[in-house]
Amino acid sequence: MAEHQTTILALGSYFKGTAFLQECKALGCTVYLLTKEKFKDADWPRESIDEMFWMPETHKQPDLTYAVSYMMRTRKIDRIVPLDDYDVEVAANLREHLRIPGMGETTVRHFRDKLAMRVQARDEGVNVPDFCPVINYDELREFMERVPAPWVLKPRSEAASFGIKKLNSPQELWDKLNELGDRQSYFVLEKFVPGDVFHVDSIIWEDNVVFSIANGYARPPLAVVSSGDVFRSRTLPYDSADAVALREFNKKVMKALHMKRGVTHAEYIKGHADGKFYFLETAARVGGANLAEMIEAASGINLWREWARVEVANARKEEYSLPPVKQEYAGIVVCLAQQEWPDLSAYDAPEVVWKLRKEHHAGLIVQAKNPERIQQLLDEYGERFAREFLAWMPQLDKPND
Ligand SMILES: Nc1ncnc2c1ncn2[C@@H]1O[C@H](COP(=O)(O)OP(=O)(O)O)[C@@H](O)[C@H]1O
Ligand SMILES: [Mg+2]
Repeated sequence: MAEHQTTILALGSYFKGTAFLQECKALGCTVYLLTKEKFKDADWPRESIDEMFWMPETHKQPDLTYAVSYMMRTRKIDRIVPLDDYDVEVAANLREHLRIPGMGETTVRHFRDKLAMRVQARDEGVNVPDFCPVINYDELREFMERVPAPWVLKPRSEAASFGIKKLNSPQELWDKLNELGDRQSYFVLEKFVPGDVFHVDSIIWEDNVVFSIANGYARPPLAVVSSGDVFRSRTLPYDSADAVALREFNKKVMKALHMKRGVTHAEYIKGHADGKFYFLETAARVGGANLAEMIEAASGINLWREWARVEVANARKEEYSLPPVKQEYAGIVVCLAQQEWPDLSAYDAPEVVWKLRKEHHAGLIVQAKNPERIQQLLDEYGERFAREFLAWMPQLDKPND
């Protein structure tokens, strides 16, 4: 019988993670992809996929468990890896059921459920915005008396600022809860902390953060989504006080949340009022919105590829070693565009290293050795994008549709 090859099942309910699949194949793995029927014809790297499966819905249980168990009657699977945030939970659910190593359901809660991440972080001494579960009304009343408005009411497991409401009075909360009815306990209420928003993206190997990079959004994501603006982020100067503090804080958060291995995207607020950092949220996956491309431009580290190397090293009981990291700078500018295929040819600074090719989107990444140059280009291009391309739509009813 042929020797068993390390076998990876990737769950991709959305089209992403090409470099992950390619790296698994390059490392000699057998690679299976389970995706949604809707994405079966997407531009997946087919030469890196041994077998592809699709279902109308990849999150419906017990259908998914039945499907993967059926696959496993004749195939061994060593690791299950979620490509999209919405796959993170079902991956843990499948691992628990099929007894496959990796993040289980208790830990995955800390990375998917905004209430669970708040409680766990706070209990481990991490600074978080004051919050209250939407469960007991006496507690909610007490919270609103103790913590001055505004507050935010947010869904416990959505992404991309979806469904977040800023509230200014108790009446607004009660009205909203009335409207939500039985769905209200799937929300969390917390203090709105005005401040700058940052993200730290990291690689974790056996409980240690072995790579992390601190970045700052030009404006808080909620402000970008609710007022319609150009999304921008950039690498922070490596030895700046903010970057040093953020990387330290991020280590503490990963430890508090029991992250063992993989990649994470975590967000932090630096409060305008007190200058302190607050843990905002995190996810056990590569950050969205093309931040991975920006991070690769700055550091040479492709988070998808390294995630594949981490999973495969663990499956093979080998050591993981981080490739050489460069300390340069990058920034990203993205917006919804009025034009179907916006013309970016006039954005031709030599620092432009990547352009987004997506209908009704304009986007690019700039890369340089010097952070001031990145800042200058982000300011200039942000303004030009707003003038030439920017379209704005109120949020849809459902994310990812
Ligand atoms: N407690 C808070 N104080 C201030 N701003 C917040 C708070 N919670 C969320 N936001 C704003 O909403 C955005 C989205 O919230 P976040 O918790 O990161 O959820 P998502 O998963 O949708 O990204 C943040 O980037 C920030 O701009
Ligand atoms: Mg966020």
